[in-house]
Amino acid sequence: MAKNIVLTGIKPTGDPHLGNYLGAIAPAVELSQSPDRDSYFFIADYHALTSIHSAKDFAHYSYQVAATWLASGLDPEKCVFYRQSDVPEIFELSWILSCFTQKGLMNRAHAYKARVAENEQKKEDPDHGIDMGLYCYPVLMAADILAFDTDIVPVGADQVQHVEMTRDIANRFNHRFGQVLKLPEYQLKEDVGVIEGLDGRKMSKSYQNTIPVFCPQKRLKKLINKIKTDSTPPEEPKSTEGSTLYNLYKIFATAEQTENYARQFQEGISWGEAKAQLFEVVNARLAEPREKYDEMMANPEVIDVVLKEGARRAREKAQVVLARVHKAIGKGGV
Ligand code: ADP
Ligand code: TRP
Repeated sequence: MAKNIVLTGIKPTGDPHLGNYLGAIAPAVELSQSPDRDSYFFIADYHALTSIHSAKDFAHYSYQVAATWLASGLDPEKCVFYRQSDVPEIFELSWILSCFTQKGLMNRAHAYKARVAENEQKKEDPDHGIDMGLYCYPVLMAADILAFDTDIVPVGADQVQHVEMTRDIANRFNHRFGQVLKLPEYQLKEDVGVIEGLDGRKMSKSYQNTIPVFCPQKRLKKLINKIKTDSTPPEEPKSTEGSTLYNLYKIFATAEQTENYARQFQEGISWGEAKAQLFEVVNARLAEPREKYDEMMANPEVIDVVLKEGARRAREKAQVVLARVHKAIGKGGV
């Protein structure tokens, strides 16, 4: 029996942080280890091009995401791991799909609507600063998914609409030409919860409150020391509830360590000591992959070799799907 195809992408828009690692990268690595599925994982670099217009950043962020994935245990032999821009079939399919996509559907995309609302609030022209890349983003994402006959797309809640749009687009194409494109389902990723940043809000590049996953040990320590705490004096009991330190600790520690940490909170631990212990558990988990990460980032040609091989395999599959599409639309004769 054919295996289910699972596919997901990550947009390289900055230095990957602990939120990305725990919420997106680690879950994907886990998925790739399941033997009863064919997994496709990719770096959605041309999606990032909608916001990254510095050549240096564009190149660097892609390598960072690739190295983070590989250092975190993604085995490129057990999945197809590639860079989106290395698979031209995706962009050809994107154009074909755009000819079957209603403009009205794109008008309803959350990301686009949010930008329009922002402009209206500022009394600007509704389309101020909005380029076609942002507007057509969902079509490219549909091509990413449909080019591989994907069955399942693991996503966060913010991406569900894009998978639904992918189904709408595929349905419209199939309605005209028969069952050419496979309709994907989304799978909401198991909720790791929101990882909090230095200021206690959701860790996000937009808030500049992040802890990069593989930053040097010294910096990691410094950043952990910056995590916001209240002014409870050192020896007084502290609540674990709503404590960013405690919430992070429990993700990285064993149940036993967490119990012990909570007890120390009750007994009165100084914030300095609580931070030192948090650093220990986070660093223990990241130290080994950090070494691999640093090694790859120092030799990006190693990453290129892995991604090129992934692209070769991805193209092989996408060409099969695209051949069906060509035949359906009558390219090359009927
Ligand atoms: P950012 O908010 O820093 O721009 P992205 O939106 O690029 O991050 O996040 C990519 C993916 O990483 C998200 O789909 C989500 O799965 C995960 N992620 C990001 N931030 C967090 C967080 N604070 N907690 C949990 N998961 C997160
Ligand atoms: N849009 C997704 C995000 O911002 C990234 C992405 C691009 C993606 N193409 C995809 C995710 C295809 C899943 C499937 O996170």
